Amino acid sequence: MNNCFLEACWGRPVDYTPVWLMRQAGRYLPQYMAVRSRCTFLELCKTPELAAEVTIQPVDFLGVDAAILFSDILTPVEPMGLKLDFVPGPVFENPVRSMADVDKLRIPDPESDLPFVLEAIKILRRELSGKVPLIGFGGAPFTLACYMVEGKGSKDWSGIKRMMYAAPDVYCALMEKVTMMDMEYLNAQIRAGAQAIQIFDTWGGILSPADYERYVLPYTTKLINGLNRTETPVIHFVKGSGTMLPVVRKAGGDVVGLDWQINLGDARNMLGQQTAVQGNLDPGVLFAPNDVIEREVKRILDENAGRTGHIFNLGHGILPTVPPENARFMVECVHRLSKR
Ligand code: CP3
Repeated sequence: MNNCFLEACWGRPVDYTPVWLMRQAGRYLPQYMAVRSRCTFLELCKTPELAAEVTIQPVDFLGVDAAILFSDILTPVEPMGLKLDFVPGPVFENPVRSMADVDKLRIPDPESDLPFVLEAIKILRRELSGKVPLIGFGGAPFTLACYMVEGKGSKDWSGIKRMMYAAPDVYCALMEKVTMMDMEYLNAQIRAGAQAIQIFDTWGGILSPADYERYVLPYTTKLINGLNRTETPVIHFVKGSGTMLPVVRKAGGDVVGLDWQINLGDARNMLGQQTAVQGNLDPGVLFAPNDVIEREVKRILDENAGRTGHIFNLGHGILPTVPPENARFMVECVHRLSKR
């Protein structure tokens, strides 16, 4: 069993820097497109054998040190009562706009409402045994609330901001419910066999540091505190977290995810030795020729300066138009250049 990813999450010494890629299963891989051409994205998420198959594709092709369950952060929102579609971006037919809408939301029972996720995890633990650990994941309450209120992606997220600032009682009631859902769902993933959990807060960085601390941090902290994580490290990724990393750290994750808009060395100095980090290559670098990819990998490893507790990753998801062999070359560079 290749354990270096989990060891690095706990901040322990490893023989080389572990690496995986956010969104490593997906449209940039022809083998994913082949499976995807036979069904919709949601059907793929809801068919455990297919979800397991596309989870393993990048492990085999890229040689990464961890697998991440194939699903979506919005999968558990559907059984809360919102009708979900991907066109290809996510769309909710009945977004949350009022207290009455929040009252109607139910907290799913993962075992009966999301059995396909737990089944995919069980299949994957069997198929990955002796290979690499499996990461489960969920959206942070705030990012899930962003989509639930807007009903789709947004440029300025004015709907969630209006609710947060002008109807804080509705906002708090929604965030409480989403936090409870997340806690049940992620604990069910851990029970089913997920060996680490990543919490994606893609939109946490749209708020000022003060309002992140007031409106987001309490919920993510409650969520992380509520996870059965004595043996399961939690990675907390807030995109755009820059200068608010010390606030993000307060949520209590074992590993803090970094996008590419901060130097890894500066981030580690802000966070202190005790906090492991994951990141932070600009996903766009994977369009570059090999010498530039190698230069950027080396720069990030040099910024880490041999400290324990670094998992190499992109600073956000891999882009669908990246040549797969460039991603594979990046993984090979991380392993070769970090070998102790
Ligand atoms: O990392 C992995 O390989 C595991 C699978 C995974 C997906 N989505 C599959 C997916 C994970 C971890 C996610 C997380 C996710 N989903 C986030 C947080 C991370 C981030 O990228 O910011 C968010 C915000 C979503 C919501 C979402 N799902 C959007 C905005 C979109 C459309 C845009 C896009 O990238 O396609 C999706 C669809 C989606 N989720 C696809 C995949 C492979 C593409 C679906 C397809 O095949 O058409």
